[in-house]
Amino acid sequence: MGYKETYAAWKADPEAFWMEAATAIDWVTPPSQALFTGEDPQYEWFSDGRVNTCWNAVDRHVEAGRGDQIAIQHESPITHSTKGITYAELQKRVASLAGALRMRGVEKGDRVIIYMPMIPEALEAMLACARLGAIHSVVFGGFAANELAVRIDDCTPKAIIAASCGLEPNRVVHYKPLLDEAIEMAAHKPEFCVIFQREQEVAKLIEGRDFSWHGFQYGVKPAECVPVEGNHPAYILYTSGTTGQPKGVIRPTAGHLVALNWTMKNIYNIEAGDRFWAASDVGWVVGHSYICYGPLIAGATTVVFEGKPVGTPHPGVFWRVIQNNRIKSFFTAPTALRVIKREDPDGIWIKRYAQHDLQAIYLAGERADPATIEWAQKYFGVPVIDHWWQTETGWAIAANPLGIEQLPIKLGSPSVPMPGYDVQVLDEAGHPVKAGELGAIAIKLPLPPGTLPTLWNAGERFKKSYLTTFPGYYETGDAGMIDEDGYLYIMARTDDVINVAGHRLSTGGMEEVLAAHPDVAECAVIGVSDALKGQTPVGFLCLSSGVTRDHEEIVRECVAMVRDKIGPVAAFKKAVVVNRLPKTRSGKILRATMVKIADGESFKQPATIDDPAVLDEIRAGLQTLGYAQKAPA
Ligand code: COA
Ligand code: AMP
Repeated sequence: MGYKETYAAWKADPEAFWMEAATAIDWVTPPSQALFTGEDPQYEWFSDGRVNTCWNAVDRHVEAGRGDQIAIQHESPITHSTKGITYAELQKRVASLAGALRMRGVEKGDRVIIYMPMIPEALEAMLACARLGAIHSVVFGGFAANELAVRIDDCTPKAIIAASCGLEPNRVVHYKPLLDEAIEMAAHKPEFCVIFQREQEVAKLIEGRDFSWHGFQYGVKPAECVPVEGNHPAYILYTSGTTGQPKGVIRPTAGHLVALNWTMKNIYNIEAGDRFWAASDVGWVVGHSYICYGPLIAGATTVVFEGKPVGTPHPGVFWRVIQNNRIKSFFTAPTALRVIKREDPDGIWIKRYAQHDLQAIYLAGERADPATIEWAQKYFGVPVIDHWWQTETGWAIAANPLGIEQLPIKLGSPSVPMPGYDVQVLDEAGHPVKAGELGAIAIKLPLPPGTLPTLWNAGERFKKSYLTTFPGYYETGDAGMIDEDGYLYIMARTDDVINVAGHRLSTGGMEEVLAAHPDVAECAVIGVSDALKGQTPVGFLCLSSGVTRDHEEIVRECVAMVRDKIGPVAAFKKAVVVNRLPKTRSGKILRATMVKIADGESFKQPATIDDPAVLDEIRAGLQTLGYAQKAPA
């Protein structure tokens, strides 16, 4: 069956389609049906099935005779080490860690925060939670203590599993002091912490609260897999919304298993025994779905990469890892290719490594610009597949499903909707627009298995954020169009979320931090186009009357505050002091107009603008930062 037939088969009978996909999963009790519709309406998948994620990702492969196959390959150019862990070893390690967690009281439904760098132990911690039915929440290492504290208070974990440190090319990230500070700040206190001590830094443990990874497991009875209901939350992953309070996306267990397993074969063309690598971080959704769960559920080998696309030590490191591990499908963010292309425009480093097994490169996380795709196609000679998804969905909404059929690639488009997603482009009134016309991208409910049923502790926010604007639809927050051939084009966000180096960030969250500076009366943060990172945040500060301090000093303090409160990952480095912000007569800040000025795009002066002269001051401010170089049309 080709793509069209597969999509049509899903549309004709979604229930049969997903029940068939579910047969690839090992159930303790198989589900009696796929979709369960509750009031409101609340959609859940495979709710009456009983299943365990860790069993499906680890144990069943050992039972099937894959015990000696490498499950996780750790490639760490930062520490100059490479190490493989087989499925049999992984099973032992995870069962032991789970046994130790259980001995300290962690049970099904308890939350466990995981704050770890790119080491196999991060995946082992996730899987150990899954083994017990505990709900993990992984926090990205580039966030500051305050962000960790916010997550601790929201998901109230019984335990936190962390490493002593992370390693960035230019510095050691001291995780333990950040963790201690976060626990100090948070109102909720975890009962205990487990610390994986790395060679590069041995952290000081707090007696009675902290246990070392190895000591903690000494002599414990390994834990078996605990069956959970299909709709039991597998994990919570926080993502940026329009405010500083992140959204806790819930991933339901059974839908996650069924959907990810389906994508491994049908989208990435990966089966048991194949080798797959997603160069992302476990702190992001790509890391959850395609470093940890997807490849392991499929019985493939996955790579945990601790390094950067360039500088660790050279721009050929990705291709070396692909060669040495005979990677078949490779997944990265367009930003990573752009930084490599900048250092190696003629593909000299690419030619140094054999890519015999590489069949395709997948890109996601941000818009893939045609120039980058063409460059990669030229030097690799394999399909370069853009695909579009979100933390909320956990897997691709639109893709070119190589495992089913390779469709023609259209540059600038992540191709076509995957089965499960009825994607529509709507106008402001919620009516579908014609092919080729721009609008808000929405997905007809119900969303498919594996997608978020709601937000942790925030059912009303879930409805308000996603379901109210277009009744009967899920609002993606992205704008774009569908062409005559049914190909999607994702053009921009409709909210204040920006995408910096493939990282999703909230400008609203940054504004909340800036507004707390004692000299700042009002502020705005926008995402300006950046040739490498896609977008970069820029702040505008209006100072309180009577402030006479040096503006540069205030800007420096503001930059430091965002780094301190949100973290280095915010990449907030530029801000400018202005007298006023452009606003509508009703007081709404005209951020979209400011972005257009910064990017040198032509724009129509909003009819509702309060005082057009303010735009000149914004342009002048941006010019001092090196933006807005083109004159307005
Ligand atoms: N722990 C601690 N700090 C981190 C971190 C982590 N895991 N990841 C990034 N940071 C820090 C960086 O060190 C940097 O700090 P600095 O201001 O002191 O230099 C800051 O956060 C900004 O990081 P980033 O925006 O990633 O810039 P970079 O220059 O370090 O790297 C790229 C640029 C393009 C190489 C990198 O962003 C990248 O590989 N992006 C791909 C993203 C990705 O995989 N996204 C997932 C979707 S597929
Ligand atoms: P995240 O939840 O971090 O995965 O970010 C999701 C957002 O990133 C989407 O809503 C889009 O705005 C953007 N995004 C992800 N993949 C793509 C893509 N292939 N093309 C365009 N934008 C993308």
